[in-house]
Amino acid sequence: MIIEAINISKNYKGLEEYCVFFDLNISINEGEISGIVGNSGCGKTTLLQVLGLIDKPSKGSIKFNNKEITESDIPLILARDISFIYQLHHLLPEFSILENITISQTIAGLNNKIAKQNAIEILDKLNLLDKKNHKPHMLSGGERQRAAIARAVAKRPKIIFADEPTGNLDPENAQNAFDLMIKIAKNCGCAIFYVTHNHDFISKFERCYTIKNKQLISLKQ
Ligand SMILES: Nc1ncnc2c1ncn2[C@@H]1O[C@H](COP(=O)(O)OP(=O)(O)OP(=O)(O)O)[C@@H](O)[C@H]1O
Ligand SMILES: [Mg+2]
Repeated sequence: MIIEAINISKNYKGLEEYCVFFDLNISINEGEISGIVGNSGCGKTTLLQVLGLIDKPSKGSIKFNNKEITESDIPLILARDISFIYQLHHLLPEFSILENITISQTIAGLNNKIAKQNAIEILDKLNLLDKKNHKPHMLSGGERQRAAIARAVAKRPKIIFADEPTGNLDPENAQNAFDLMIKIAKNCGCAIFYVTHNHDFISKFERCYTIKNKQLISLKQ
């Protein structure tokens, strides 16, 4: 198992303490495509960030790759094994897309030359090679999301967490970007945890969940 969350709860301490979810259990296997749908505010992003180790559960524990993790393990796991794709692309604006895709790999520990070769290969697969020296603002919305997908997969993470990455695209480009991401992930054995409002995507998920009344409900096993 890549991720195993055991009895996790998440409370936000604002003006009043607010519980987003309670005593939740979820596991994600190697190479598995899981999705989560649900009403705005039900806790999808919060769960994604907790499972992706960028936020902490208020209670419970999370295993990564079948091991208990400590605080000091997290930076290396984030650099090497986990990628995120957001609704906004979050590409570095001052770098070309080739550089964006190369940098994420060198941070993960790859040698610069190999990282660049990988980046070129993946840009070619995504039909973006002719745009490799463009900075993000010189790309269309769909191209930018493809570049963000390229960056996420290039370092060959164990899992990609995607938070509505196709939400800003027209239906055709959204479907294409989604299909492409699943295809590439399947090719490299990378798991995906995908937040979406698009119910058309559910058929492609191997497992699908929603959060209701602070509990995780399985829609597809
Ligand atoms: N930092 C925070 N402090 C306090 N409350 C928060 C914080 N972040 C999120 N929340 C609350 O937690 C709940 C879950 O938020 P979350 O962002 O996980 O929802 P979501 O399911 O991703 O919604 P959407 O579909 O709109 O993106 C919401 O009620 C939100 O107001
Ligand atoms: Mg959200």
